[in-house]
Amino acid sequence: MREVGVAPGRGGYQQGLAAARIVFSARSALAEFFGVTDSSRLIFTHSATESLNIAVNGLLKPGDHVVSSTMEHNALVRPLHLMRGRGVEVTFVQGQPDGSVRVEDIAAALRPNTRLVALAHCSNVTGTLQPIGEIGRLARKCGARFLVDAAQSAGYFPIDVGELGIDLFAAPGHKGLFAPPGTGILALGPEVELDPLLVGGTGSKASSPEQPEELPDRFESGTLNTPGIAGLLAGLEFVKETGLGQIAEKEHQLVEQVLEGLRALPGTVVYGPGPGAPRGNAISFNLAGQDPATVGFLLDRTYEISVRVGLHCAPDVHRTIGSYPAGTVRVSPGYFTSAQDIEYFLRALKEIADKR
Ligand SMILES: Cc1ncc(COP(=O)(O)O)c(C=O)c1O
Repeated sequence: MREVGVAPGRGGYQQGLAAARIVFSARSALAEFFGVTDSSRLIFTHSATESLNIAVNGLLKPGDHVVSSTMEHNALVRPLHLMRGRGVEVTFVQGQPDGSVRVEDIAAALRPNTRLVALAHCSNVTGTLQPIGEIGRLARKCGARFLVDAAQSAGYFPIDVGELGIDLFAAPGHKGLFAPPGTGILALGPEVELDPLLVGGTGSKASSPEQPEELPDRFESGTLNTPGIAGLLAGLEFVKETGLGQIAEKEHQLVEQVLEGLRALPGTVVYGPGPGAPRGNAISFNLAGQDPATVGFLLDRTYEISVRVGLHCAPDVHRTIGSYPAGTVRVSPGYFTSAQDIEYFLRALKEIADKR
């Protein structure tokens, strides 16, 4: 903001061009990182939620059918639910108790009018990873578009949107890509055509009342969050310099440390994938006989440890894994968490469990 505090793509003055260059660099770098060959098909949004809304609203028409799962975040569930009221049929395939969605269940739900298969790559409640390669191939075979909510996996796992045949790829900047809050992306496959969710000023084709057809302008009405996008570029550069492998390795060790500690606490229920299964960082658990909200409150007020408790914007996930309605305590170690932090967290949990 101190150096380039103006909107990109509006004025032809030097500051405006400098802002546009930042946005262009970020777009190109993100497209390359995620295997999107045409960077103009990578749209900036302010969150994964906005990306999912653009995708769902822009693609579906009355009479279409969508296959999703019971493992979804409200960021996808609510737009799909809204579309139900507009004549779209939606099947939420039942997930397994460990949070996995079986490819054969997706296959069984497909119909001739299935226009979209939509699901999260990694669960924000249990860390369960879904087989997006196989599901994508299945969707393609049936002529359906494939939407991946990568909120919990972008920046955590290598993802090549082109190779995986993902038609609609939604991700936030503010999680695994270390960007400031209020940043997101939506990548569109080469054959995807959508109606825009928002229309208005794009800085291009100003004489026409029609929304431009050109990408990315078609989906980027209004002033972009240039400082956030600059932060997203810096976050991505951090990921590339550090290496996805190194980030994943460190986070994996911390996740294993948490899981081991939780299993050693008598009566603690740990949800999600079994030992050794590949997984993301979100770990959900409940202490024996304790309300998750109380545990979260004590962790915060007594130990200054921030965890999320309850339903985590994903009620159906809790119905699937058996933790509805109270939900779970969820802890998510990140790259900047240390082994000492986890030891402190586990000691705090033990004290809370022992005091009961
Ligand atoms: C799986 C999943 N999808 C979507 C979202 C929404 O992301 P955003 O906050 O960027 O809208 C989240 C956020 O936690 C998430 O975990």
